[in-house]
Amino acid sequence: MLFVCLGNICRSPTAEGVFRALAEREGLGDRIGVDSAGTHAYHIGNPPDRRAQAAARRRGVELGGLRARRAESEDFRQFDYVLAMDRENHADLAQRCPPGFEDRLALFLDFAPDLGRRDVPDPYYGGSDGFETVLDIVEAASRGLLAHIREHHLDR
Ligand code: 4NP
Repeated sequence: MLFVCLGNICRSPTAEGVFRALAEREGLGDRIGVDSAGTHAYHIGNPPDRRAQAAARRRGVELGGLRARRAESEDFRQFDYVLAMDRENHADLAQRCPPGFEDRLALFLDFAPDLGRRDVPDPYYGGSDGFETVLDIVEAASRGLLAHIREHHLDR
């Protein structure tokens, strides 16, 4: 499971932390590999944005140990799921996807159709409200994604 946004400091590390915590809570932590990356290189090596860390910590999820990296074409060979946070990230990733691996690429919010949105909104230039919204969306989509994984890849 690879979550991808633009900078790998706000949305995708939030998704990585929230989804990993959910999988661990449900006893599946050692069966699902989870990572995140960014389509752009601005923040490589940096920890998640302080506002993202603070918002996640209020919900019991620690992001402080994560470090930003760039998404590479090799990631499509490593991960069964490469999940873009928005349509722009999806388009950037499609250009990096090796031939034959296209079915590994999807929008994260395809796993939460009830939300009625396709993009996780970029909180970087807004206030702290944006980070709460990201967490609400990411929590819902993580539940949908885990239900999908259970149905399609696990025997329960
Ligand atoms: P992210 O947010 O893609 O959710 O990590 C952003 C982080 C940095 C920038 C834009 C969005 N930036 O322009 O530096």
